[in-house]
Amino acid sequence: MKVIIAKDYEEMSDKAFDVMAEVVKNNPKAVLGLATGSTPVGLYKRMIQDHEKNGTSYKNVSTVNLDEYAGLDYSSDQSYVYFMRTNLFDHIDIDLKNTNIENGKAADRAAECERYNKLLETMKQDIQVLGIGSNGHIAFNEPGTPFGSVTHIVDLTESTIKDNSRMFRNVDEVPRQAFTMGLKNIMNAKKILILANGANKARAVYGLVRGDVTEAVPASVLQLHPDCTLVCDEAAAALIK
Ligand code: PGA
Repeated sequence: MKVIIAKDYEEMSDKAFDVMAEVVKNNPKAVLGLATGSTPVGLYKRMIQDHEKNGTSYKNVSTVNLDEYAGLDYSSDQSYVYFMRTNLFDHIDIDLKNTNIENGKAADRAAECERYNKLLETMKQDIQVLGIGSNGHIAFNEPGTPFGSVTHIVDLTESTIKDNSRMFRNVDEVPRQAFTMGLKNIMNAKKILILANGANKARAVYGLVRGDVTEAVPASVLQLHPDCTLVCDEAAAALIK
């Protein structure tokens, strides 16, 4: 795993953008695997600025997102589809038809997982952006998720519900279930770009880089990926320096 330690969030976002820009420059038809959460917002801002200033085009790019809350869709400003529109897609020239995410409102959840897995089989990510949970999760693959997992429905852990409650009016509004790509779908990406900032991620980053490869720390599976780059700030890197 390549590790890049940046001094702060802004520098982390700059370095992440360099990796992303290279992929899009080399392949205007790239499949971008994207993530939500606070961590990649700075990366998305830089993609928007670059699009506006330098005309980098996303017209032929397609995207697959990691996960979505069960029960939420674009009509909810907490949904991940809403997040992606407002933080990136509405500000670049991407065709929304080429953007993909699980349908949180699907009536038949098992069928929705199957649909998404079939889609992912036809769309190998040229790059997959990831954040990391304080408990070592990637996407919503919580500790104990099998490395061979594909898109599935998960019960969110108390720690994730608490971490994510800051985005909601109160903790009771956080959905208890989500759709998520599995670890196998993530590992299938040609390149992985995982980002982490803040002291609350330091333990998870230790597990990602230095810990045992174990299903107890889902991110540790990335040690087995042939092209994985971690970009983190000093605070998140505290235990690996
Ligand atoms: P965050 O979430 O970027 O909001 O910290 C990361 C994650 O839980 O994967």
